[in-house]
Amino acid sequence: MRRFNAYRISETDGQVSARLVELGIEDLDPGEVLIRNSYSSVNYKDALAATGTGRIVRRFPVIGGIDVAGTVVTSDDTRFREGEAVLVTGYGMGVAHDGGYAEYSRVPADWVVPLPQGMNPAEAMAVGTAGFTAALAIMRMEQNGLKPVNGPVVVTGASGGVGSVAVDLLAGLGYEVTAISGKDSQHEYLRHLGATQVLSRHTLEMGKKPLEKTLWAGAVDPVGGEMLAWLTRTMKQDGTIANFGLTAGVELHTTVMPFILRGVSLLGIDSVQCSMELRRRIWERLASDMRPRHLKEMTRTIHFEQLPETFGALLKGMIKGRVVVKIQD
Ligand SMILES: NC(=O)c1ccc[n+]([C@@H]2O[C@H](COP(=O)([O-])OP(=O)(O)OC[C@H]3O[C@@H](n4cnc5c(N)ncnc54)[C@H](OP(=O)(O)O)[C@@H]3O)[C@@H](O)[C@H]2O)c1
Repeated sequence: MRRFNAYRISETDGQVSARLVELGIEDLDPGEVLIRNSYSSVNYKDALAATGTGRIVRRFPVIGGIDVAGTVVTSDDTRFREGEAVLVTGYGMGVAHDGGYAEYSRVPADWVVPLPQGMNPAEAMAVGTAGFTAALAIMRMEQNGLKPVNGPVVVTGASGGVGSVAVDLLAGLGYEVTAISGKDSQHEYLRHLGATQVLSRHTLEMGKKPLEKTLWAGAVDPVGGEMLAWLTRTMKQDGTIANFGLTAGVELHTTVMPFILRGVSLLGIDSVQCSMELRRRIWERLASDMRPRHLKEMTRTIHFEQLPETFGALLKGMIKGRVVVKIQD
């Protein structure tokens, strides 16, 4: 088989760098399923990994890209056959196992999800880990009792990848959505995705009391830090917060008061090790009743060469929506 392009992350003298290299299939990490990749995507974690901003790469060198969609070339596992359209997100992809920023990936069969009916590889990667996480967060909140009649749901970091999909999905499910964003230029975009109210992150009155005026029945939070602390103080009785991110910081300064006096739940969301049974159910829903309605408007497509500038902009919080990487037809 011919040699192919891959965007590989390396470390030399403690310095992390990433560049395009030419590899052969024999250079890829082992796995039962060889995939010819057509699309990947850019998530916050991809930017942390490739720039060395977060020390999250567990083995160097590694091909970046936590998501991939493509077609099975060969499979040593009977669950998959040649020509089948598949996707992989999370697990060790792009951090401990060669990921999706390459023309081919070789992965354990246990990580592979058949592409759901009615979704093409480009759409699957427009959803990607970000959209999958938004759906997982909403499903977990609903299991915890969240319903549209309970009251408004707030989405923080709303113009980002997970935030954009969360606003779209929640509005599609009939929730009244408030979007909080640091991008004052994107309020119209967020209303178009389905937010009924958009608040500027820069002018929020957060207060300091352990319990502030109740505002939200649910909260989808990619941001963490002071934003998450404020959410705990403003949840309604029995409200549910789903946190999975840290763009504003990893620390959480709050009190137990919202938990013991208002019955507030704080759910942790992990898309990486999510069980295969739940993973498949979520992807099926993302292709049917939970299908994002504005994927096209929230997605931009780039090529390998644009990865470095995209990572830089993402880490500065400047990217709107989702970024898909086109690898090959
Ligand atoms: N646990 C998991 O399984 C999982 C899965 C997916 C993502 N995540 C995490 O979720 C977070 C978001 O991921 P993403 O791919 O959606 O990233 P993203 O596209 O960069 O979106 C993050 C958004 O957060 C907001 N933001 C940035 N810096 C901020 C700051 N200092 N204070 C407050 N808000 C800030 C910005 O939105 P506005 O300008 O609109 O405010 C930004 O667009 C990341 O921390 C990522 O690691 C975790």
